[in-house]
Amino acid sequence: MSTTLEPNSPFDPEFCHNEREVESKLLVSYLLPILGYPPYLWHQQVQQNRFRLDFVANASHTLDAPSVVLEAKHPRTNLSHHIRQLREYMLADATVKYGLLTNGKEIRIYERKNDSIELVFQCFGHGIEKKLDEIRQLIGRQELSEELPKSITTPGTEQGVENKEGVTMMEQVISKQVEETRKTMKTIAIYHNKGGVGKTTVSVNLAAALRNKGQRVLLVDIDSQANSTFATGLIKFQFEEDDSIIKSYVLHILSSGDYDFIPEVVRPSDNFNHPEIDVIPSHINLIESQEKLNKIGASRSRLLMKLNRVKDSYDFVIIDTPPARDLYSEIALITADYLIIPSDLKPFANQGLANVKNFLKQANEFRETMMGRTPLTVLGVLASKISTNAQFLKHTFPRQKSAVSKHYDLPLLDTVIYERTSLSKCVSHTKKEGELEIPDPQSIFEFCKIESAADQAAEEFDLLAAEVLKQTS
Ligand SMILES: Nc1ncnc2c1ncn2[C@@H]1O[C@H](COP(=O)(O)OP(=O)(O)OP(=O)(O)O)[C@@H](O)[C@H]1O
Ligand SMILES: [Mg+2]
Repeated sequence: MSTTLEPNSPFDPEFCHNEREVESKLLVSYLLPILGYPPYLWHQQVQQNRFRLDFVANASHTLDAPSVVLEAKHPRTNLSHHIRQLREYMLADATVKYGLLTNGKEIRIYERKNDSIELVFQCFGHGIEKKLDEIRQLIGRQELSEELPKSITTPGTEQGVENKEGVTMMEQVISKQVEETRKTMKTIAIYHNKGGVGKTTVSVNLAAALRNKGQRVLLVDIDSQANSTFATGLIKFQFEEDDSIIKSYVLHILSSGDYDFIPEVVRPSDNFNHPEIDVIPSHINLIESQEKLNKIGASRSRLLMKLNRVKDSYDFVIIDTPPARDLYSEIALITADYLIIPSDLKPFANQGLANVKNFLKQANEFRETMMGRTPLTVLGVLASKISTNAQFLKHTFPRQKSAVSKHYDLPLLDTVIYERTSLSKCVSHTKKEGELEIPDPQSIFEFCKIESAADQAAEEFDLLAAEVLKQTS
């Protein structure tokens, strides 16, 4: 299982060997939570005017809320060489009040002053815990926004007052908040009975987007096509005799109550995303066992039972499903707390929503009568693979969207995933190993480090993760 640095663990710059690690270990896992920014208030790889920013953290949801730009650099980078670039970023948007520039070893904060920026804080990464109050005074979420409630500390306690271990009251309160948002693992099924609408693309990239926001994520592939398993880099072999999945995959979770618990079947997603996510892979042979499992009532509740045993290890479980009304989709709907229905909103996909609703009704009945579970919460239909053609967006798209609520009485998520070639290119990415060209699939976030045209799709998935975090919190 992949390890996660808890937000309130001490930060050690020695563990940052590259830019990604500065982003994940210093910014995502440490500073943003401690400064009071929940994951839905900060965004990664944000396209702002003509710039792509590493992170933007907003003090609140409103459009004009003050914000901070955070730029992470490689540990060997001289930060002075990036001040000009940071100034451009900060001056391009009036809501940006501060800019944080870091290579992990050093942290600098610049303040916007009219049409220039000024260095207002500087410290080493080593020992940053002693400087947190100063950093918070400048760019803490609460301090940045006058509209927000002034105190989140309990009455009578003072921010900055340290206890025996040197932990301030404010840090204790924020750690508690982080703990509380982590209390419940949330399971989301990604389902539509129509094929090719983007279920797998949404599953793997939403998983990566949530992981990049510091969430601990498990992806379960319950589709015998095993497309999520491939997309997360777990099928590298070229010949059947090298098949490393067949001995331990999602089937083993479903076929017995006593054996093969999650930690024994889970694998870290290879080079797919940094930080990695955990994956329960699938295999083409899963289809063979459907009839047998169908006859055993208990097979429907085994995934849920086994997930319950790891509920403290993950914040989100994402289940990618087959394009069918079969046992495996039923298990996903029985197991999940939430449902996202990706749809290209074309006539068949929209008509299919009626089938999805009937199937959902059947799964809810099973949940209630056999398991005493509440019905699945539909987060919404997710418009995906949507053409960016201006005429289409003006005339057809609004009608397609309104049909979702009008004819099918289903909510629609605000985020739209547009049709982007980068989303199919990142799955078919390869690398050379000797003479061989081997699969090296990437999440959209990794791929945009190779191809900047992928930025827009990465931003859409970042927004989707923010919307999911908000709706499930
Ligand atoms: N937003 C998008 N933009 C461009 N191409 C996309 C997008 N989403 C998915 N695709 C491409 O469309 C094809 C089908 O997507 P995907 O496999 O995610 O759909 P699916 O619903 O999981 O399919 P299935 O029902 O077979 O499991 C893939 O080639 C994928 O790369
Ligand atoms: Mg799929």
